[in-house]
Amino acid sequence: MPVDSISRDILRWYEKNARALPWRHPPGCTQAPDPYRVWLAEIMLQQTTVAAAGPYWLRFLGRWPTVQALAKADDADVMREWAGLGYYARARNLLAAARAISAAGAFPSTEADLRQLPGIGAYTAAAIAAIAFGEPATVIDANIERVVSRLFAIATPLPAAKAPISAALAPHVPRDRPGDFAQALMDLGATTCTPRNPRCLACPLSPHCAAHANGNPDAYPVKAAKRLRPKKQGLAWWIEHGDDIALIRRPPRGLLGGMPALPGTGWATDQPFHMPFEAEWRILPEPVSHGFTHFELRLSVACTTIAHRMAEIAGNPVSWISRKDIPAIGFPTLYARAAKAVLDQSHEQVIL
Ligand code: ADE
Repeated sequence: MPVDSISRDILRWYEKNARALPWRHPPGCTQAPDPYRVWLAEIMLQQTTVAAAGPYWLRFLGRWPTVQALAKADDADVMREWAGLGYYARARNLLAAARAISAAGAFPSTEADLRQLPGIGAYTAAAIAAIAFGEPATVIDANIERVVSRLFAIATPLPAAKAPISAALAPHVPRDRPGDFAQALMDLGATTCTPRNPRCLACPLSPHCAAHANGNPDAYPVKAAKRLRPKKQGLAWWIEHGDDIALIRRPPRGLLGGMPALPGTGWATDQPFHMPFEAEWRILPEPVSHGFTHFELRLSVACTTIAHRMAEIAGNPVSWISRKDIPAIGFPTLYARAAKAVLDQSHEQVIL
């Protein structure tokens, strides 16, 4: 087979410039990586940056060093370790997949079989197949999408460009080093072929790059006109009794499913604010803002103190947590911000 100059040039570059990442074997390493470690990293990296995922990955591995250990973990412990990473369906799927793999007795080793696991889509299946099992899968994440759309000056706007990007890249995947090739393209996208002001002079692919030749790499990938995310509002209730705060658990399915939360109203575009009972309520001057994938939420927080504990609030069972334990309960970011806003107001120093 003739040498593919694109894969040759990027692999040479990777040998000198690969980022040292905790889950990664160095370029050219002949020892097969542990698929559990690769899988855990790829799930975390689906919606989290490399820098943010690193400490979580290390903590997970320290606590659950094998897929069998993770399969036996308590759901609540896993959710607590995941707190702050966001997109909590990933953690629930991670556990479901660990249990399926553990019950099957072996890690699925092909792209097609990996795809069957909960939480594993086209990108993740291809990445694990290539990196952990050496399958010449075509791996396309956002960085690679950008590199390839520039390399071949693909004019179709995203997301329709996904198919031509994949078709353009597939013939260049080297059969002997598909994992290094994929990670080399990810690193090139992260460090050199950046969204703005790409460093074409430092790029090993610039001699092959159609967008560089045209002088307009910034124009790729072409994006479809953006739709604005709708805005929603809601009200959280911060209810104190003595030193304790009322918490609920979100329903198991849906946004922030299974996570600890403050009680409150639903979230909607025209949410009428209401309180769960009559009391003296104080509303924080600024709502807490949080961006979800499909909408922006502005969550106001109403605070009160009550003399008698309740077992439920607005139909939800509550648990009472001491203020000092709040940092350890694994609030998702939205509620960690809301709690911080309340505690900052009352001049408490609690590190969340
Ligand atoms: N982003 C997603 N997966 C990655 C990996 N294996 N290396 C670097 N960045 C990534």
